[in-house]
Formats: sequence, C-alpha cells, structure tokens
Amino acid sequence: MKIAVRYYSRSGNTKALAEAIAKGAGTAALSVDAPEAPIQEPVDLLFLGGALYAYGLDGHVKDFLKTLDKTTVKKAVVFSTSWISRHALELLKKGLADAGIPVETETLYARNKPGAEQLKAAEAFARKYL
Ligand SMILES: Cc1cc2nc3c(=O)[nH]c(=O)nc-3n(C[C@H](O)[C@H](O)[C@H](O)COP(=O)(O)O)c2cc1C
Repeated sequence: MKIAVRYYSRSGNTKALAEAIAKGAGTAALSVDAPEAPIQEPVDLLFLGGALYAYGLDGHVKDFLKTLDKTTVKKAVVFSTSWISRHALELLKKGLADAGIPVETETLYARNKPGAEQLKAAEAFARKYL
C-alpha cells in the first residue's frame, strides 16, 4: 500500500495534523509547495490537508489540486484545521472529485492547533488505512 501525505499550512496547525497522519501511515508529510510534492509515482492513497482562509483554500493547495491525475492517485482522504468552519474539507473533496479521484467520506478535522490527544487520534486514523 503506497501512501502519500500532502498539506499546506501557513501557521503550523495543519502541518501538525499532517505529520501525525504521516507517522501513522509510515511515510513523510510534504508541503504542497515542496519541489518533490507533485505525485510522480502511483499511490494507492493520498491524504490531502489544508486550512480554511477567508472561506477558501490557499492558492498553493488549489495549484496542487490542478497537478493531480486520477491515473496516479487511486483514492484520497482529506483533513483540515480552522477556527470554526469545516468548509475546507468540502472544497478539498470537490477539487479531488473534479480531478476524477474517489474521495473517502470520512475526514479528519481539528479546531486550530491540534492537541496531543488529537495528534494521537490522527495517527490512529491513518493507521486504519494501512
Ligand atoms: C487570513 C485568515 C483567514 C481565515 N479564515 C477563516 C475562515 O474563514 N473560517 C475559519 O473557520 N477559520 C479561518 N481562519 C483560521 C485558520 O483556518 C486556522 O487558524 C487554521 O488552523 C490555520 O491552519 P494553518 O496553521 O495550517 O495555516 C483564517 C485564518 C487566517 C490567518
């Protein structure tokens, strides 16, 4: 099972969740703007995370969504952090669906900075998919 974890995080909250997911999945979390972020080799599962900014996704995440190809990403799971709204989860799901990539209905969300318990839960969440 090949798993990739990608995220974008301005202030570290979504990054913390991404790193816990990556730990659970036994892989590394990469920011979508890292040079090696584009998915080159086929993956069975992509965890994609982003926060909500002014009710939208960061441009880096939108750009990354445009690079995705359904022939290299079999399935995706989305995660997010925000102050209040879970809307980024829907935006991420829509971006993936528009690329023809099936998305799990189950999502992972934390309000602002995830605490120790939430990070543990994120690890366990990822392990379920192994
Ligand atoms: C400019 C800006 C706009 C934001 N807009 C929203 C918003 O519309 N709704 C919301 O619930 N949270 C909003 N937030 C809160 C962030 O989504 C939240 O702090 C998130 O955890 C940041 O994740 P990051 O540390 O990974 O960048 C906003 C934060 C910033 C800085």
